[in-house]
Amino acid sequence: MPANASSSTKSAPAPTGGGGRGVRILSTGVGMPSRTLTNADLERLMDTSDEWITQRTGIRTRRIVDHDAGECTLTMATDAARMALERGGVRGADLDFVILATMSPEMLCPPTACRIAARLGAGGRGARAGGAMDLFGACTGYVYGLNIAHDLIKGGSYDRIMVLGGDTLSRLMDYSTAGRGTAIIFGDAGAGALLIADPDPRLGIIAQSMHSDGEGWKEIFVPQEARDFPEGVPPDPAKFGRVQMNGATVFKFAVGTFPNLIQETLDKANLRPEDIDMVISHQSNARILQAARDRFGIPEDKFYINIDRYGNTVAASVPLCLHELVMAGRVKPGMKVMFVAFGAGLTWGSSLWQM
Ligand code: UT7
Repeated sequence: MPANASSSTKSAPAPTGGGGRGVRILSTGVGMPSRTLTNADLERLMDTSDEWITQRTGIRTRRIVDHDAGECTLTMATDAARMALERGGVRGADLDFVILATMSPEMLCPPTACRIAARLGAGGRGARAGGAMDLFGACTGYVYGLNIAHDLIKGGSYDRIMVLGGDTLSRLMDYSTAGRGTAIIFGDAGAGALLIADPDPRLGIIAQSMHSDGEGWKEIFVPQEARDFPEGVPPDPAKFGRVQMNGATVFKFAVGTFPNLIQETLDKANLRPEDIDMVISHQSNARILQAARDRFGIPEDKFYINIDRYGNTVAASVPLCLHELVMAGRVKPGMKVMFVAFGAGLTWGSSLWQM
């Protein structure tokens, strides 16, 4: 993606509509943790096997933070933002807004995004200080963030928004046999993209969707106290602060929802599967992704899978895929790219872009 040095000053939020403007994904970045957690490492921690994990999920290794060295959601997402700024030729001070999709912020208060904005030079006390917020959308958070940021720019009030995804699920895992059904799939990462206004009104989102079903909350949740456990599930203090997931139920939800989500988005855009140049999906399980790919007859090179190397990195998985594809020259201006995700909430959403 070509760098586009932004020489203009930071926009004062304008009350006017966006008129004929478009929105462009200018640049991307990643911030990866330093440690690696392989299936062989997990074999030493719990009763599992490389064969079981590979066959059921397609995952071979994941990256996780070195907590003692200070690595965390804040540092990974900040690194990703700095890379995107540098690659886009934009100064942090020129950002209008920073969105961090996450389910593992540093603390419940303040929003981690505010600390990221400060580190980027985007915040401050003056009229030019950019806004910042965390978006709690679990695995769908990044796609929600893309849709929201796009429409804020398209509407004309903002020109440059950093949309980040960062999660440190290793802090919320039980790496013993009791937690093996969940701990094997998650990894840590930070990644993101810089969205900017573009004079070409054809650029940006062609179709989008955002859905939720809160009745399904108990399929993935992180209890903090006894009353957080669903009816019929005995509260267990050992599970406080640890992700609880009904993997098989979520698997069925994902396999059922995924094709509907893709079809709904194609219908809204009046496009066929073959019109899409790349599908970038949340990386949850290689079998879920392959099932959706086969259902629509999408060739392998147009449906990206990198879960084998990173596992499920929650809100970071979609921008991590995007960054890798951009760096490899496989996502370029002129392409139609469909982002899709689903996860806790339950939530699911899509964002189909004319790049
Ligand atoms: O991104 C957010 C959303 N999350 C997802 O999309 C996750 C979707 N779900 C999945 O990917 C899969 O459900 C898992 C990979 C998490 C689990 O695979 P599964 O095929 O659904 O396994 P299961 O939970 O139904 O368990 C089957 C068996 C059980 O043993 P029994 O009762 O049949 O004897 C488990 O105890 O596999 C056992 N098992 C394991 N064995 C070895 C569960 N985890 C492991 C493990 N190693 N890590």
